[in-house]
Amino acid sequence: MLRVTSRDNSFLKALAGQANSPAPIWLMRQAGRYLPEYREVRSKVASFLDLCRTPELAAEVTLQPLRRFDLDAAIVFSDILIVPYALGQRVEFVEGEGPKLEPVRDARSVAGLSRSGATEVLAPVYETIERVTAALPKALPLIGFCGAPWTVATYMVEGGGSKEQAAARLFAYRERATFQRLIDLLVETSADYLVNQVKAGARALQIFDSWAGSLPEDEFERWCIVPTKRLVELVKARLPEIPIIGFPRGAGVLAERYARETDIDAIGCDTSMPVGWMRRLQEHLPVQGNLDPLLLVAGGEALHTRVGAILETLGQQPFIFNLGHGILPETPIEHVTRLVNLVKKS
Ligand code: CP3
Repeated sequence: MLRVTSRDNSFLKALAGQANSPAPIWLMRQAGRYLPEYREVRSKVASFLDLCRTPELAAEVTLQPLRRFDLDAAIVFSDILIVPYALGQRVEFVEGEGPKLEPVRDARSVAGLSRSGATEVLAPVYETIERVTAALPKALPLIGFCGAPWTVATYMVEGGGSKEQAAARLFAYRERATFQRLIDLLVETSADYLVNQVKAGARALQIFDSWAGSLPEDEFERWCIVPTKRLVELVKARLPEIPIIGFPRGAGVLAERYARETDIDAIGCDTSMPVGWMRRLQEHLPVQGNLDPLLLVAGGEALHTRVGAILETLGQQPFIFNLGHGILPETPIEHVTRLVNLVKKS
């Protein structure tokens, strides 16, 4: 199989530190419920995790947005919560309610987690990646991903999504040694998981730290920066060339320290980050983001104006166009087509 080099693809060029005109574009959660063809495949399996663990279907769903839109990268269809599942935690996706996990709240439940079954649970994801890379045109790279240790731990401790991650924060503040063991386990498991995704064919990686914004600065350093730095270090020790994007959603001004201290290659920025501030970060590393997903739902003049502002401020330096968070299920498909055309014609 032909390998994609950074010369062939503007997304990889941006990650290597080059500016591109037009800027490359991909969209977080670009596969999903806003596409009827996704809902069709989803209806064939009983549970969302079954979809993630059926390579033939997961590969199909990964490719769907690439057939419709002129995107510059694919992202493997899976979920960040497959890692707790691989560690033996009970994970379910309840229709209309989101993920439900058996909460991990004490030393005993942390000790009960084990990596012994992880390879078997995660193997279908690697097979999905092999299938997708075999089917993609050679100039289109596939992104592998995992959740950051802190974000995954919040779901594990809370037992699902939460507004403020209060249970996870309390656990981290009160039972530091136990929480540290959980984080260390996630760092090691995620490092192997990312390395195996690259071995299967992924050409770039993203670490989703969706709840990075819920911690005060010293705790942010302890639970976001240090574990991410260690994760990046473990991956790069085995794969020095692989570009890694960090996405510390909600980190605000702490994003600068995160970018400097974790050794990531590019930073994903959420919608709240001013583009002028992203421009400053661009002096140090490529940036990705940060269109409000609701502007893509709304469309019209508001979308047009914002896309123009983002491109004008960030387009002259290494930049990857993306949303500031995942695409929403109610997003009209025509708006996505329009967005991609706007970026490509700029
Ligand atoms: O980007 C892609 O196209 C790849 C697929 C992908 C999914 N989840 C598929 C998915 C990726 C990269 C993720 C990451 C993910 N998952 C994150 C980090 C990014 C973020 O949004 O903050 C988080 C926090 C999760 C955990 C998760 N998975 C939640 C909270 C939910 C429920 C909310 C929802 O949108 O339903 C999921 C389910 C999920 N993951 C769906 C998809 C397509 C919807 C499930 C369905 O089809 O029924």
